[in-house]
Amino acid sequence: MKIGITNLKGGVGKTTISQNLAVCFASMGFKTCIVDTDTNQNSLAWSGVRDEGLANITVVGATDAKALGKTVENLHRDYEVVIIDGTPSLSEMTTRIILSSDMLIIPILPSAHDFRAMQPFFERYEQAKEFRSDIPAYFLINQFSHSGNIYKGMREAIGNFGLEVLKSNVNKRAAYVETALDGRGVYESGDNKAKSEMVELTKEILEKAENLGLIKISES
Ligand SMILES: Nc1ncnc2c1ncn2[C@@H]1O[C@H](COP(=O)(O)OP(=O)(O)OP(=O)(O)O)[C@@H](O)[C@H]1O
Ligand SMILES: [Mg+2]
Repeated sequence: MKIGITNLKGGVGKTTISQNLAVCFASMGFKTCIVDTDTNQNSLAWSGVRDEGLANITVVGATDAKALGKTVENLHRDYEVVIIDGTPSLSEMTTRIILSSDMLIIPILPSAHDFRAMQPFFERYEQAKEFRSDIPAYFLINQFSHSGNIYKGMREAIGNFGLEVLKSNVNKRAAYVETALDGRGVYESGDNKAKSEMVELTKEILEKAENLGLIKISES
């Protein structure tokens, strides 16, 4: 399956979520790769410092929007899980990512400013749906921190965009910053809370993928 991690807003966690999902899928035994579409090539650099003894994750840089579809299709022949790490630039690339993915995960920070910044992404999403009508997309709340009822209101506000919000949240934790430095995911860290929230998220995505007919979990 091909999972696009995208949002035109910068710094919402596209790269962090891509890498951490890749680590979980690879650790579960899925043959996994990341397609890094951002010109800063953060995921490519991350794979460069990743210890060889850890679960194998191939990272491929793909900054040419026109070639993305083919790159993703070719990789999908060899990899069960292809994760596309998105770019924040207002470019053709985002439309290509949307069209190349079986499902989209849209990380969003729980702030009013971030909701307002969603509009350009939605314009791209609606445009892309003229070419392919069925592109399942889910919001993922990143950098969540428990501080009152404000989040219930925010979940409802995000829901108003008409897309489902995943039940799993990713909390704000030092483990995400620390593990990124040496090519790991939190699944490979000593932070059990971080680890279990990523496992929950991966399982929720797998369940969606199975319901959409994208993957058969029992065979993996
Ligand atoms: N759940 C989290 N807890 C703590 N820090 C986080 C979390 N998610 C992301 N970060 C940090 O926030 C910053 C931005 O995250 P990241 O680079 O993943 O976002 P991005 O959407 O890929 O950014 P860009 O648009 O520049 O590609 C990074 O420093 C990252 O370590
Ligand atoms: Mg990034």
